[in-house]
Amino acid sequence: MVQGKRILLGVTGGIAAYKSAELVRRLRERGADVQVVMTAAAREFVSALVFQALSGRTVRTDLWDSAAEGAMGHIELARWAELVLVAPATADFLARLAGGRADDLLATLCLATTAPIAVAPAMNRHMWANPATVANVERLRQRDVHILGPGEGEQACGEVGEGRMLEPDELADRLLDLLPGSGPLRGRQVLITAGPTRERIDPVRFISNRSSGKMGFAVAQAAREAGADVVLVSGPVALATPPGVRRVDVESAEAMLAEVQREVEQADIFISTAAVADYRPARPAEQKIKKHSERLQLDMERTVDVLASVAARSHRPFVVGFAAETESVEQNARAKLLKKNLDMIAANEVGHTKGFDCEDNHLIVLWRAARRDLGSGPKLQLARELVRLIAESYEASAGANARGKAQA
Ligand code: CTP
Repeated sequence: MVQGKRILLGVTGGIAAYKSAELVRRLRERGADVQVVMTAAAREFVSALVFQALSGRTVRTDLWDSAAEGAMGHIELARWAELVLVAPATADFLARLAGGRADDLLATLCLATTAPIAVAPAMNRHMWANPATVANVERLRQRDVHILGPGEGEQACGEVGEGRMLEPDELADRLLDLLPGSGPLRGRQVLITAGPTRERIDPVRFISNRSSGKMGFAVAQAAREAGADVVLVSGPVALATPPGVRRVDVESAEAMLAEVQREVEQADIFISTAAVADYRPARPAEQKIKKHSERLQLDMERTVDVLASVAARSHRPFVVGFAAETESVEQNARAKLLKKNLDMIAANEVGHTKGFDCEDNHLIVLWRAARRDLGSGPKLQLARELVRLIAESYEASAGANARGKAQA
């Protein structure tokens, strides 16, 4: 979780410096406090005013600026940082860092800080592949500097290859792994199901639903951001695994149940976002079904309710369900909360243009006598709020359980 974390962002002189403005926004959105330090070369590419406006802090550029040093000296600045990220990091900066130089403010800060240092290299692919750079990067790695990227693709110089700075979103996500030991779910194991399931009709056909998995993946990312160890059991989706999350892919409801049963023993919290099929063909055909007749009837049987089976365990985690409803959203969701014996349920309206397979959602969270309308918004934003509520409620219930045991 980067929320409340003090991040010192060093910007060096590469064309990717413009992307770092976006990076400041991404970090601020996640609640981080960002102090930007620019090298002289960086200011040739982007004005310090841009970073000042986005970070809300005066940008530091010069080791010899007596006014700025008077406010917070470079050693204080080095102490202030909980993490130093240099993005973009040019070949020249990597060489200076590897050489232990202190010839400008940023290099001096990197020498003086005890915080973890990460660099996001960005340069022409030949410069990146040059043995001098390779050796510098190796020296930095040996000194536990985190090397984030670079990525591959089209470069500003017109060439294609390895050397692009990672995208701001990915960089912001990757920082989470470098800031261990924080977040309300630190040390907790969270098991999440996501996506649709596919139920086999014959070797080439299946029954499924419109779930994209986006909500579940957003919840997995948010739980990881909150410091949890996350296992994500996912049906077939076209989504990248959030950084730091362990993902297990399954197809059918039966396979999802088997994986959940394997993982649930270790889980402190179970969050069931998957749109699990309620019915499956009772006898899937061994061979492709031929169109011999005018009508075809499928005999369907019920699948096991994964969520209810977890909630029914004697030794159970804190259990959170989702309710996908097309009408009487809250009423139906509360009925599911009680019927499935859940600790919490997040209700959303689906169908037509809502909920399924789209970017935004609207969630109402219900638990015992309480209710919280999280409103509408991007799924990741809602997921972060939901995870905050889950963490609070989990802590309260863990506390209550401990008190119960002590009294018994
Ligand atoms: N769920 C599950 N296994 C199933 C069916 C549902 O784990 N076989 C979980 C979902 O992940 C969700 C919750 O149960 O967290 C509610 O799912 P939903 O589809 O809204 O309701 P159902 O229980 O399937 O009931 P109905 O279809 O009658 O609304």
